[in-house]
Amino acid sequence: MSVSSAASDQTVCTPLPVLGRDVTVPLVTGGEVTYAALDYAASAPALQRVWDDVAAYAPYYGSVHRGAGYLSQLSTDLFENARNTVAEFLGCRPADQVVFTRSTTDSLNLLARVIPADCQVFVFETEHHASLLPWQDARVTYLDAPSTPQQAVRTLERALADRDPHGPALVCVTGASNVTGELWPVRELAAAAHAHGARIVLDAAQLAPHHPVSVTDLDVDWIAFSGHKLYAPFGSGVLAGRADWLQAAEPYLAGGGASRKVTRREDGGVAVEWHETAARHEAGSPNVIGAYAIASACKALTEAGWDSLVAREQHLVRTVREGLAEVPEVRILSLFGDDAPRVGVLSFVVEGWNSSHFAAALSAEYGIGVRDGLFCAHPLVRTLLGSDPQSQGECGAPEAAPGEKSLNAIRVSFGAGTPDEHVERFVAAVRELVRDGAKWRYRTEEGRCVPAV
Ligand SMILES: Cc1ncc(COP(=O)(O)O)c(C=O)c1O
Repeated sequence: MSVSSAASDQTVCTPLPVLGRDVTVPLVTGGEVTYAALDYAASAPALQRVWDDVAAYAPYYGSVHRGAGYLSQLSTDLFENARNTVAEFLGCRPADQVVFTRSTTDSLNLLARVIPADCQVFVFETEHHASLLPWQDARVTYLDAPSTPQQAVRTLERALADRDPHGPALVCVTGASNVTGELWPVRELAAAAHAHGARIVLDAAQLAPHHPVSVTDLDVDWIAFSGHKLYAPFGSGVLAGRADWLQAAEPYLAGGGASRKVTRREDGGVAVEWHETAARHEAGSPNVIGAYAIASACKALTEAGWDSLVAREQHLVRTVREGLAEVPEVRILSLFGDDAPRVGVLSFVVEGWNSSHFAAALSAEYGIGVRDGLFCAHPLVRTLLGSDPQSQGECGAPEAAPGEKSLNAIRVSFGAGTPDEHVERFVAAVRELVRDGAKWRYRTEEGRCVPAV
């Protein structure tokens, strides 16, 4: 999978309209600026198109599935059609199921609940905690951080070769790192998994908003992603893929919607027949608007065209990387090296600066929203920084003196709605802060840096 070759600059498009694009925020130094939202990896703004679709549907919103009224039937149709749209967006196989969840975290926890009892799980220590932690009850092997994509494949192959070849196994891997933005060799990892009789789930939380993702092309067994990172922040996520383990397991949640028939047993208990469709794991009243919003985002991205979306984002990636390369105090974090293909997610440290202090100054003095910390990927950030991420620095004083290791990092991330001006302002602000220092005083409040007044 290569993003750099996906499109040329000739096809660069304008940003897709998103909500909040005209919002202004106050600066501590006086005046207001347009807010530069550069924290897409956490949550991306809603696409205007998604908002408009949701607003157009909202008056027709009704109860789904058993409702007899017109609006209930309409809402049921929209909900089930949203499943089909997502299946198409993800290039699903005909027998795959699309389950609507709350988020990627929810999707991976659902999968962890349905894997066979004797399943062995293989996961790299570099994963986001949502991929790293749900398997704690399973027989899980944590794989060391690789330093190249090829090494990742070799590490997985070795681990799989050593496993009990008879039992079921599952590999969980990210498509794009939420820390470095680097792409993982998903197709090759899937081939290795399958060659050893294992299945693979792709955590596409950071890949799907930036790059076309196909179950079929990548030959993965499941894909998980979140609506709020895909410009559809209405509380829904997706787990899509093979139906058999989903159908064989007890429902994730027990309740209405998941059950087809419930009767009293002679012994006084209750007998339940569970659905075998996706509804089995969607007990309770579903988030129809959330699912509809995800489907709308899938359509909007497809219609905008991935070639031009990718080209535009790569142009922004280059602007940031080239701009930061001119500031010797900045170190961009990378597992796979400078040439690794990546999406619009970059983390870095600034020599002599506490990351929280730096992020606070970007916000308060430049109206730029980035993120600082460990990004729910503590083992990976520990590896990249070579330091213990449990310790937090005080923002008054630099956490790391020149030449010392930083304790946490700053992450800038962007996507389809980001105008050039936002990343240009960011690069200029980094340069200015490093050269001149902060113009304001900051203090630590509940572990975070905030302007002193
Ligand atoms: C790679 C990755 N996986 C999983 C998640 C979890 O997503 P959510 O918080 O939407 O469940 C994130 C969130 O940042 C992520 O970056």
